[in-house]
Amino acid sequence: MSEGLYKGPGEVRGRRPVPAQQGNGARSGDPFLPWHPPEGLARGAGAAPVRKTSVENYEFIINFFKNIGNTKEANTYLRLFKKGNPSRFAVIKVGGKTLAETMPVLSGDLAYLTNLDLFPVIVHGGGPQIDRELDVRRIAFEKKDGLRVTSREAIDVIREVLEDANRKLVEAIRAQGGDAEGIRLAVKARPHPDRDLGFVGEVTGIDLKPIFRAIRMDRIPVVSPVGFDDYGQPLNVNADVVARALVLALRPKKFILLTDEGGVRDGSGKIIPFINLTADLQGMQERGEVTGGMALKLRETKQLLDELPTTMFVTITSPHSLIKELFTVKGSGTFIKLGSEIEHHRTWKGINRDRMRTLIEASFGRKLVRDYFQRDITSIFLDPKYRGCAVMRKMAGMDYLDKFAVRKEAQGEGLGRDVWLAMLQEYPKLFWRSRTSNPINSWYFDQSTGAVKFGDWTVFWIGLRESQIRRAIKTALKLPPTLQDPLRPK
Ligand SMILES: CC(C)(COP(=O)(O)OP(=O)(O)OC[C@H]1O[C@@H](n2cnc3c(N)ncnc32)[C@H](O)[C@@H]1OP(=O)(O)O)[C@@H](O)C(=O)NCCC(=O)NCCS
Repeated sequence: MSEGLYKGPGEVRGRRPVPAQQGNGARSGDPFLPWHPPEGLARGAGAAPVRKTSVENYEFIINFFKNIGNTKEANTYLRLFKKGNPSRFAVIKVGGKTLAETMPVLSGDLAYLTNLDLFPVIVHGGGPQIDRELDVRRIAFEKKDGLRVTSREAIDVIREVLEDANRKLVEAIRAQGGDAEGIRLAVKARPHPDRDLGFVGEVTGIDLKPIFRAIRMDRIPVVSPVGFDDYGQPLNVNADVVARALVLALRPKKFILLTDEGGVRDGSGKIIPFINLTADLQGMQERGEVTGGMALKLRETKQLLDELPTTMFVTITSPHSLIKELFTVKGSGTFIKLGSEIEHHRTWKGINRDRMRTLIEASFGRKLVRDYFQRDITSIFLDPKYRGCAVMRKMAGMDYLDKFAVRKEAQGEGLGRDVWLAMLQEYPKLFWRSRTSNPINSWYFDQSTGAVKFGDWTVFWIGLRESQIRRAIKTALKLPPTLQDPLRPK
């Protein structure tokens, strides 16, 4: 009965529906397993950095696609990452504890990226290493407002320890067949205004020249977070703040925070796949879902995103999932977006119907049926400025997306995605239809777990059971149109 396109019932797991995996022996098709370079791709410890010949490189890329699983998806990301300025690929921050515990995995994955000609800028911490060394040398320190009061003796140890961690990561990447360079003097700082803190600094800027130079030479820049003032005095600065300064300076496509937690976890310990900071942070804190270090990290992330375009994303994930995070839609950690606040209404009450009508009609370029607002709905997800919305109804006992619209002037800025994700959080199982000629269908096809085309209409669904799908298709095809003649140009 269908005209092709059938994708199967599938199920929504995590922040987005995952398209079916393609042949991938090593991962047995489970997109949720951590992924690692296959044997023979990440080279053994001790191998010298080698540049590939074009044939080797070709084989490497073919193997990469074989192993990452979903070729289409990985190819899209690879192309996206390679587009434009190579220094804008990604900034990756790795904390000291994570660095020490996952060095072989992390350096293997970073070496792997250099073989794909991708050179993320790494910035690392070294907190536990510093604590240990200060302890060994019996240098006492205290904390004031979360900052380590830093004596002259302590700053020398901090510098030494961070440079050592930096060197070890660079060497490990090289040993795995990639190339990297330690960048130790790039962070500019000035002394903290609270002089009681001693040699603690505030970041004033980043010298990007050595970073660009390393990338030009096909090396991953590994930035040590020690700051230096105008006189060359080392200062103790927070690695997260350095990472933020790097992101602001480089505007990368990805900002990834690597932690052993692997993401932001909710009260029951499960990774929260998606956070819209604007909409979720306060509620999550009030409900006690994120506390302590994670809450701090999220507040800092929000501060960072506040200064960047709303389309910027931050991912918190584990080093064990780095490659998968980069090359699959689903990823495996927490995907954070500043996002815009999307209102959720359960009835038409409180909705300005004229503005709503204008929004829908202007987006589709067609007139809504006269009685549209008399019909029962279950939810409206609405941008407070009436630039975008999703309208949900109950149909045949299932949730039906009746309208999804963003005004023309706001299209392409990510508002549709915000509305969509707000809707998905409430309605993880749903169906909808779209005119077969609608260009958005390629995106719908990626979002849905199943789709079927019938002449003018294509019906999509997410998370429906096999037994519901036939009913959903029948219902969607029978519905009378709610949009009529094209709007007359004004
Ligand atoms: C469909 C619509 C709501 C999308 O809103 P938007 O704010 O432009 O979408 P976003 O900028 O958030 O983009 C969301 C995704 O859709 C993709 N997309 C947007 N317009 C697209 C198009 N014309 N063709 C293919 N993909 C498109 C984007 O690339 C993006 O993909 P990504 O998440 O992989 O990056 C909006 O274009 C619209 O109102 N269209 C007219 C009404 C309509 O056709 N509604 C759907 C009827 S079923």
